[in-house]
Amino acid sequence: MKNKELTRVSWSFLVYSKELLLIDFIMLVPGKLLLDHAFANQYAVGAFNANNMEQVQAIIDAAAATNSPVFIQVSRGALEYSRMTYLRNIILAAVEEHPEIPVAMHLDHGSDLEIVKRAIELGFTSVMIDGSLDPTGKRALSFEENLAVTQSVLEYARPLGVTVEAELGTIGGVEDEAGVNAIHYTDPAQAELFMKEAPVDSLAVAIGTAHGAVKFEGECILRHDLLQEIHKRLPNTPLVMHGSSSVPEELVAQVNKYGGHMPNAKGVDIEQLQQTTQFGVSKINVDTDGRIAVTAAIRKIFAEKPEEFDPRKYLGPARDALTEVVKARMIAFGAAGHASKISQS
Ligand code: G3H
Ligand code: 13P
Ligand code: ZN
Repeated sequence: MKNKELTRVSWSFLVYSKELLLIDFIMLVPGKLLLDHAFANQYAVGAFNANNMEQVQAIIDAAAATNSPVFIQVSRGALEYSRMTYLRNIILAAVEEHPEIPVAMHLDHGSDLEIVKRAIELGFTSVMIDGSLDPTGKRALSFEENLAVTQSVLEYARPLGVTVEAELGTIGGVEDEAGVNAIHYTDPAQAELFMKEAPVDSLAVAIGTAHGAVKFEGECILRHDLLQEIHKRLPNTPLVMHGSSSVPEELVAQVNKYGGHMPNAKGVDIEQLQQTTQFGVSKINVDTDGRIAVTAAIRKIFAEKPEEFDPRKYLGPARDALTEVVKARMIAFGAAGHASKISQS
């Protein structure tokens, strides 16, 4: 890892993290370092959502087992659930345990400048400003509104060395707690204009994926044609795929077998996802698959061992189940094996 890079990260944390000077000694990396390596080598770094200790441990264990760089990402809802500081400290513990793994701590679907500032104060090295929707998540913002809020985040974050992801077009499904929206495919010409006016480090695009466990009524069809056109117009921009869980049938079946109710669950076809890395996709977001893995494991234990009441006896297996899912995604996205290459570059 370049000394310059480390110095920049450490220094920005020392100055801007109001709450924990210890953070200065813990080596998170800027998201851009991971994005650029993935972009250059045509693979995607997995970005996995975390809300508690077991999820963070599963993600770092999977990264260590497969030698993968990783984004550990936290939504606004997760930050609030974890009372702002807990999750940050748990992620730092993961990095302390595995300093050989380049980890970016990322704000997922930041809704406005205020939450971005808060995340940066907490030491996040990467932030997403989701200007595709208004902060309530209920109304789509116009191109101009999206541009304005993205520019304000860029102005704030870039001088601090924090990586910025924006979104153009809207991913389908449920985004952050309340918001429900249909897919509005990203327009390649608008993407080019957007990047001219707000040159963010990565751009999330809508090409047919959707958040949540029920992504499609029919077949999964990712618009590779659209992605290819966006990549042609933005040949140097790492692209991001949201809503990319594959919703494994066997895990959904396990949830349903042990008393759950997940009708119509359907995820993204992994092979179609894998093809996106040749067109600039460098970060792929997965949350739902982890939620299902955890729920399936806990339901099974509750059903099979109704006498069990020690949380470690079901949270531990849930953590193991999540580790397996995350490992599989890291391998599928081509990220496995790259952590040490980034650390040595
Ligand atoms: O895209 C949204 C992520 O799955 C986070 O969901 O806001 O419920 O934490 P959340
Ligand atoms: P999934 O709901 O498909 O896991 O997508 C997660 C995501 O995009 C987080 O930002
Ligand atoms: Zn998302």
